Amino acid sequence: MPSSPTPGRQKLTTSTLAAKKKSGEPITMLTAYDYPTALALDRAGIDCILVGDSLGMVVLGYENTLSVTMEDMLHHCRAVARGARYAHRIGDMPFMSYQASRTDAVRNAGRFLQEAGMDAVKLEGGREVVETVEGIVAAGIPVMGHLGLTPQSLHRLGGYKVQGRSAAAARRLVEDAGLLEDAGCYAIILEAIPDRLAEIIARRLRIPAIGIGAGAGCDGQALVTNDMLGSFEQFTPKFARKYADVSAVMEEAFRAYIADVGARRFPAPEHAYPMSDEEYESLLRGLRTKSTRLRTAN
Ligand code: KIV
Repeated sequence: MPSSPTPGRQKLTTSTLAAKKKSGEPITMLTAYDYPTALALDRAGIDCILVGDSLGMVVLGYENTLSVTMEDMLHHCRAVARGARYAHRIGDMPFMSYQASRTDAVRNAGRFLQEAGMDAVKLEGGREVVETVEGIVAAGIPVMGHLGLTPQSLHRLGGYKVQGRSAAAARRLVEDAGLLEDAGCYAIILEAIPDRLAEIIARRLRIPAIGIGAGAGCDGQALVTNDMLGSFEQFTPKFARKYADVSAVMEEAFRAYIADVGARRFPAPEHAYPMSDEEYESLLRGLRTKSTRLRTAN
């Protein structure tokens, strides 16, 4: 069940995000992959929940995002959709779900809305995905773009590196952002690019530019929830601020449980289900009679 409705609170839509860009109010976005996280994000008042393919690394334990499948994404999107009543919900299109053909892309994008309760999809790339974006948007599905460090192109980029540092690379990103806007994207993620470049892009776009490692000049900010909660220890990007140390809290709780069970401090009487004295005595009497009968028979 999603959180109970709050009177007067409105569901976030692509129009709300456009209005926020216009009014200059920062857009907030975090990732979620499960029901309890979606519920907590929604209660906290987040604008957008991205079910990112970062799922592969921070939840499923893969080395990168390339192994994530459509079925993985849809499964986790459904859980998030059950928890998030108000947030704008975006499903991340996984590697090879939109690159091979426009027809595949439209069909797969449709599955996020039809089968998994998402409000929009996100896909990575610039000029090379313009026709794909047009096809998906023409099917009535809102598309969020993703430029800069695009993890599905990890091997082409030669690693998780900051993008757009040279004037030529920066210019290409400015052009790509314009092309994605013209293709019909309603917002664009800018990941790991210089803050000065991100600010130029955000100013030139009519649609919101949401940054993750792209500085304070964007129209909104995104983070991978596990990075900000400290629940993914393998790697924390420079741009992530850690708001908690959930891994340490979890480990401490697990150690305390193991110690309590070992020392018979858990469970305590308050964790047990009671049985009345009358029923208990009756049980013992019955068992005594039965065991006498069994012994006589032998
Ligand atoms: O998969 C993801 O979580 C993302 C964010 C880093 C934007 O794409």
